Amino acid sequence: MAGLVNGCLAAQLSVVSLLLCAFASTAQHTLGGGSSLSVEDRARPFLVSPDGTFSCGFLQVGDDAFSFSVWFTVSRNSTAVWTANRDFLVNGRGSRVSFTRDGELALADANGTTVWTTRMGGVSAGGTGLTVSLNDTGNLVIADLSTSSTVWQSFDWPTDTLLPSQRFTKDTKLVAGYYSLNFDNDNVLRLLYYGPDVTSLYWPLPGLTIYQAGRTNYNSSRIAVLDNHGVFLSFNQLQVQATDMSLSIKRQLTIEHDGNMRMYSLNESTGGWTETWSALKQPCQAHGICGRNGICEYQPSLRCSCLPWHEMTDRRDWRKGCRPLLAIGNCSQGAASPPPEQFKFVKVPQTDFYGFDVAYNDLSRSSNAGTSACGCASAPPSPTGSTAMANATRKVFCSMVHVVEFPQEHIPQGAP
Ligand SMILES: *[C@@H]1O[C@H](CO)[C@@H](O)[C@H](O)[C@H]1NC(C)=O
Ligand SMILES: *[C@@H]1O[C@H](CO)[C@@H](O)[C@H](O)[C@H]1NC(C)=O
Ligand SMILES: *[C@@H]1O[C@H](CO)[C@@H](O)[C@H](O)[C@H]1NC(C)=O
Ligand SMILES: *[C@@H]1O[C@H](CO)[C@@H](O)[C@H](O)[C@H]1NC(C)=O
Ligand SMILES: *[C@@H]1O[C@H](CO)[C@@H](O)[C@H](O)[C@H]1NC(C)=O
Ligand SMILES: *[C@@H]1O[C@H](CO)[C@@H](O)[C@H](O)[C@H]1NC(C)=O
Ligand SMILES: *[C@@H]1O[C@H](CO)[C@@H](O)[C@H](O)[C@H]1NC(C)=O
Repeated sequence: MAGLVNGCLAAQLSVVSLLLCAFASTAQHTLGGGSSLSVEDRARPFLVSPDGTFSCGFLQVGDDAFSFSVWFTVSRNSTAVWTANRDFLVNGRGSRVSFTRDGELALADANGTTVWTTRMGGVSAGGTGLTVSLNDTGNLVIADLSTSSTVWQSFDWPTDTLLPSQRFTKDTKLVAGYYSLNFDNDNVLRLLYYGPDVTSLYWPLPGLTIYQAGRTNYNSSRIAVLDNHGVFLSFNQLQVQATDMSLSIKRQLTIEHDGNMRMYSLNESTGGWTETWSALKQPCQAHGICGRNGICEYQPSLRCSCLPWHEMTDRRDWRKGCRPLLAIGNCSQGAASPPPEQFKFVKVPQTDFYGFDVAYNDLSRSSNAGTSACGCASAPPSPTGSTAMANATRKVFCSMVHVVEFPQEHIPQGAP
C-alpha cells in the first residue's frame, strides 16, 4: 500500500487519478479470511488491483439484479470482463460476497442461499491462511502465500472475455447466448452456434479446410493467448493482431451476442472502447442470427427476412425466427405426407441454408412429385433451425407452398 499512497501524492493532477486514488486509498487489493462486502455497499469495490486498472465487486445488470464481477475501473458503464454468477443474479438488498476464514469466496443471495462459490466446478479451494487478491492482469486469485501457490483463479473460469496473458485452454470456453468459442476435438479453435434445434460451426468459415483457413490440427497442446501487444495466438497456428498493435494499450477479446468475436482497445481517458479486430467480417456469417426459417442478407446493412410463406414468430425478436403460414400436418408424429399435388417446392435463389445440403441434393435431383412434403419439412434433419444466408455460392432448399389454398399465380417464381 505504501507505493500506492506515494503514487497518489505524486499524481494529483488529473481528475481520473484523483478518482483512482480515492478508490485506491479505501479499497484493498488483497484480503484475508473473514472479509465481506454487502450489495448495499456496492459503490465501494470489494478489491482493486494494485495499479488501479481493475476493480471487482457488485455490478448492476438489470432491475434489482446484480452480479459479482471484475471490470476495468475506468471503463464507461463498467462492462464486466469476468462474472461469477452470470446465470444466478442476486438481489439488490441483502446479498453479500464473502471470503471465508477457510479461504472460500462465496456469493449469497438475499435469503442466504449461496448462488456461487469457488468450490463449485470440482475445485477444492480451501484452507486457512489463504488470501484473495485482484491482480494487475485482472485475475482474481486465491493464493496460499506460505507456499506461493495459486489455489483458485478467475482466469481458469472465463465468461465471455479473454484478457491479455489469460491462457485459453482445452478446458475453457467463452460463451455469449447461443455462441461459444472453444477448442474442438480436432485441436482447432472454433466458434460454435448451439441453437435450440441445430448446432453448427461457423468460424473458421464452413467450406474451408483446416489448412485453407490457415490452421493446423497437428498441435494437440490446445492453448491460445492474447498477448500485451494485441496479438491473439493459438497453437493451431491461428495468429491475428489488433489494428493498433502496441504494448501500452489495455485490451480485451470478447464473444458477443451477435456471434462475432472482437478485440477491443480501451481509451483510458474516456473509458470508451474501439474495435481493433473481429473474427467475422460479415454479420450474416454467424449462424442463427435470424432464427429458424429466417434469411440473413445485406441491403446494404444486415437485414433479416422470412422464407416464402413464413412469418416472424415474435415481432420483437428475430432469433425466434419464422413460422410457416400453413401447417402441413405433424410429420414428426409419423403423419403421412400430404399428396404431392397439394404442394409445390419453391427455390430461393442465391441462398445457402446451412446444414441442409442433403435435402438440397435430393431436391436438385428429384422432381416435385418425387419428393414428399414431410421429407422437406422434417428431414434431414429438419428445415427449421438454421439461418439461410443470402448471396452465397449455393442455391438452395425447399420452402413449401400449399397449392390448394394459394392460387397458382401467387406462388413465387422459380419452383422446379
Ligand atoms: C454504455 O455507454 C454507451 C455510451 O455512453 C451507451 O451507448 C451504451 O448503451 C451503454 N451500454 C450499457 C450496457 O449501458
Ligand atoms: C432464494 O431466492 C432465490 C431467488 O432470489 C430463489 O430462487 C430461491 O429459491 C430462494 N431460496 C430459498 C431457500 O428461499
Ligand atoms: C499477477 O500479475 C503479474 C503481472 O502483473 C504476473 O506476473 C503474475 O503471474 C500474476 N499472477 C497471477 C496468479 O495471475
Ligand atoms: C505446439 O506448439 C507450441 C508452439 O509452437 C509448442 O511449444 C508445443 O510443444 C507444441 N505442442 C505439441 C504437442 O506439438
Ligand atoms: C481517446 O478519446 C479521446 C476523445 O475522443 C481522443 O481525443 C483520444 O485521441 C483518444 N485516445 C486514444 C489513445 O485513442
Ligand atoms: C408434433 O408431434 C410431436 C410429438 O408428439 C410434438 O412434440 C409436437 O409438438 C407436434 N407438433 C405440432 C406442430 O403439433
Ligand atoms: C445479392 O445478389 C443480388 C442479385 O444478384 C444483387 O442485386 C445484390 O447486389 C447482391 N448483394 C450483395 C451484398 O452482394
